[in-house]
Amino acid sequence: MASPAWCWSPRLNVAKFRNLADGEIGFCEGVNVLTGANAQGKTSVLEALYVAATSHSFRTSRSLEAIAHGASEALISAEIKQRAEDLGTALKCVLTPKGRSLLVDDKKPKTIENYVRICPVLVLQPNQSLPVDGPPARRKLIDRLVLWDPSNQGYLRALSDYRHALLQRREILRTRGPRGSDLDAFEDILASQSEQIWRCRQPGVAHFCAFFPEQIALLSGGSMTCEVRHRRRPESNDDLRTLLRERREVDARMQRTSIGAHLDDLEFRTPLGLASVNCSQGQLRILELAARFTERHWLEKHERSAILLLDDATGILDAHHLAKLAELLVSHRGQVLLSTTEMHAAFARAADRLFVVDAGRVKIAH
Ligand SMILES: Nc1ncnc2c1ncn2[C@@H]1O[C@H](COP(=O)(O)OP(=O)(O)OP(=O)(O)O)[C@@H](O)[C@H]1O
Ligand SMILES: [Mg+2]
Repeated sequence: MASPAWCWSPRLNVAKFRNLADGEIGFCEGVNVLTGANAQGKTSVLEALYVAATSHSFRTSRSLEAIAHGASEALISAEIKQRAEDLGTALKCVLTPKGRSLLVDDKKPKTIENYVRICPVLVLQPNQSLPVDGPPARRKLIDRLVLWDPSNQGYLRALSDYRHALLQRREILRTRGPRGSDLDAFEDILASQSEQIWRCRQPGVAHFCAFFPEQIALLSGGSMTCEVRHRRRPESNDDLRTLLRERREVDARMQRTSIGAHLDDLEFRTPLGLASVNCSQGQLRILELAARFTERHWLEKHERSAILLLDDATGILDAHHLAKLAELLVSHRGQVLLSTTEMHAAFARAADRLFVVDAGRVKIAH
């Protein structure tokens, strides 16, 4: 089957990144499987591609940790090419101990948002689990869903104005108490920006809630069900300005704002109850995979493709679920980079290109 026209094809160049040998790695447009023993550099390869596409690592917020020991900076560049077109885009990210610098086709991007929208990558990490990782991890997912929707250009600005007003309100409550004179002004901003934030979030979250159960059914072969609900506070259409005013006393005592868009959340439920307390580790992994596939589905709705980075995706799954995952990757025909220590038969069959990672060197096995 032909790859979709919007499939990206990256060529990755790394220098002085983690334990990886300097040089070029050429991925194919389908399923790329990286195999090798522990501590050889498999996750580092996925991480390098993630850095090239997003400017930050999924493993650390400190760029120094990702620079090869003894080096002063790391350079990662990826050539991104849309399948049907000849013109490619070159993304370049230099990490220094103090931060990073970015180039798109040798020019500085106007904003970081412009940079990360170019090449969507979705990563699955072995220790990640949306139901148990807490609300901030789930809100990051919500933010990404908005980011992938090109009609939502004002979202980051609204979030930043909202956060600023949140800090100001907390500070006034802390220093001057619930009768602070300018609380009204900041609560007005919180209410109007909350409305704007929810408006931006609504389409992506609705799509996620609708398509997630379908992805769970596909990955589990029908043996598992899980629903997602968007939990907004307030849940009803009550006026946020009024609610904020009513809660001043209690919020001053608790030193927080107990209602608003910053408390948005997703709730994952199986027929037995909350997924966080009822799912086995294997089921949590299926759930996490389903979340990435649902996100990818949302991108495709906007005619964008995403590179899936599945780090050690196979570790905890049984043969039945591995076969389902391999089937889904093959039928989808998007670009995937999957790392595994054990080469399972299902992935040997699914792999369009197989790499062996050994002491930081990445070699094509077939
Ligand atoms: N900044 C760095 N410079 C040099 N080497 C590093 C740096 N950071 C980590 N390493 C080393 O890189 C090696 C590869 O790590 P990586 O996490 O990529 O391995 P892996 O192949 O994914 O292993 P596993 O199968 O255990 O997940 C490790 O030995 C690690 O200690
Ligand atoms: Mg690893």
